[in-house]
Amino acid sequence: MIPIEQMERLVKTHLNGHRLTHSYGVAQEAARLAKRYGEDPQKAYYAGLCHDICKMMSEEEQLQWIKRSAIMQDDAFFHQPPIWHGYAAASFLKEKVGETDEDILNAVRYHTTGRAGMSLLEKIIFTADLTEEGRDYPDVNTVRTLADVSLDQAVLYILRYQLGRLLGGSWPICRDCVEAYNWFLALETENPKRRS
Ligand SMILES: [Fe+2]
Ligand SMILES: [Fe+2]
Repeated sequence: MIPIEQMERLVKTHLNGHRLTHSYGVAQEAARLAKRYGEDPQKAYYAGLCHDICKMMSEEEQLQWIKRSAIMQDDAFFHQPPIWHGYAAASFLKEKVGETDEDILNAVRYHTTGRAGMSLLEKIIFTADLTEEGRDYPDVNTVRTLADVSLDQAVLYILRYQLGRLLGGSWPICRDCVEAYNWFLALETENPKRRS
């Protein structure tokens, strides 16, 4: 982690307007959820602040960052530009600021798709992205309520919502998203009373 003031300056050179406001919103919401669930609030704030740092880059530039990573992607991934910026941002942070904290990198990388076996920080950033105070979509209050009850339930609800939209639009669904859905569905099926 670089000092938060330095990260703020970097984020401000790559994002502006509502994207910047959203990033601060996610940072604050992530810190709040971190306190609630026993994660480091400063780390959560930091990851939230930089999670969308590549969001305003061109698709070509995002792809260039993705290709600098050794992580293999399937065809479905490359058919969905909206999910690229998380994977691009992980590469960007690793290279540009020398980020070595794998949990932060994974939280940024998988915030657009989720993945099986997400860490607490990953679930916090994934959820905070959809529950920060500036968000406004039909199910937002349901997701906010779930986020205060169980992150696993919140993540599953968000994945269902996102998958439903993809299926409705005949989009292919990438591997990480499918594996995330199956993982969180199994958690719910195996232990519906689980709270974390
Ligand atoms: Fe994002
Ligand atoms: Fe975001």
